[in-house]
Amino acid sequence: MKVTVYNCRDFDEKELFVKYGKEMGIELVLCPDAPDKDNAALARGGECIDIITSKMPEELLKVFADYGVKYITTRTIGYDHIDIKAAHALGMTVANAPYGPCGVADYTVMMILMTIRKMKRILERSNIQDYTLKGIQGRELKDLTVGVIGTGRIGRTVLKDLSGFGCRLLAHDLYENEEVKSMGVSYVTLEEMWKQADVITLHAPLTDDNYHMINGEAIEKMKDGVMIINTARGGLIDSQALIRGIENGKIGGAGLDVVENEFGLYYYDHKSDILDNRELSILRGFPNVTVSHHMAFYTDDCVDTVVRDSLLGCKYFTEGAENPWEVK
Ligand code: NAI
Repeated sequence: MKVTVYNCRDFDEKELFVKYGKEMGIELVLCPDAPDKDNAALARGGECIDIITSKMPEELLKVFADYGVKYITTRTIGYDHIDIKAAHALGMTVANAPYGPCGVADYTVMMILMTIRKMKRILERSNIQDYTLKGIQGRELKDLTVGVIGTGRIGRTVLKDLSGFGCRLLAHDLYENEEVKSMGVSYVTLEEMWKQADVITLHAPLTDDNYHMINGEAIEKMKDGVMIINTARGGLIDSQALIRGIENGKIGGAGLDVVENEFGLYYYDHKSDILDNRELSILRGFPNVTVSHHMAFYTDDCVDTVVRDSLLGCKYFTEGAENPWEVK
């Protein structure tokens, strides 16, 4: 059994792939680059490819299908970068490899704290020995209402983590979760969330229905000084509307681990390049916006689990066994 792994990082993933590949009896082709039509031939002779967040549009899926690929696993929780409908139409099975929610939840809480305490400004000042206080007074979580959108594995963990801080918690999801309710957290409509939350944190997958769920109209309805945290997917927020909201002071701060159109940018060294993502450049420049490069997942535990389970999914597929990670 052969699996071709794309975007394989030599400094953290390679050793794990070799270890788990050996344990599972899998022949591996480890490619450092993103999958494209030029390196698709590497997958010939095997049915499975293992990718990260690079775009997999229909044209590219067809190239892989022609080489005999029948199974695509993504070493991520989100799978909006893959044209699932096209993959299914080509007879391909798609799966993800969800690691534990704690890494992303920890990171979210850190982003919330950094945003309410104006940490970007504090770090920038201390780096240049500016030890003044004006403009860096923060707020306390116990005085704030935090709204969590998407109460799946990560959103629920964030709610549990935040429950120790004494803030008021609100939740919104398409489906209410009993565990969340048993924590005394109220589910509210988005309208109520916009009206009441001081901090809004996103934990829903990106779908056709929630693209730009935070847009100009939604921002208008939010509290003055609202802080927005996004560790889910960039497309959930209309970047132009976010920029306008920050410029006119409606939005008091943001913590963005993900941004729109980040594909092709993240995990590469672009320091000498002129980037084609104006919104990212503008957002990065604001003193009250912390941007990180889709890092929330990046812990020792998450990387180990995602490498192991992406291969395990390939094994299940090849053996015709039940695969808990298949995207239907
Ligand atoms: P999950 O599938 O356990 O939970 C997602 C929840 O969102 C579900 O309860 C679902 O009902 C809800 N949902 C779906 N559409 C919604 C909508 N329109 N409005 C409100 N709620 C909606 O997923 P999990 O593991 O909690 O991950 C959440 C998201 O976090 C992933 O889809 C992924 O995009 C993102 N993520 C980001 C990472 C990073 O490194 N920044 C790492 C891992 C995940």
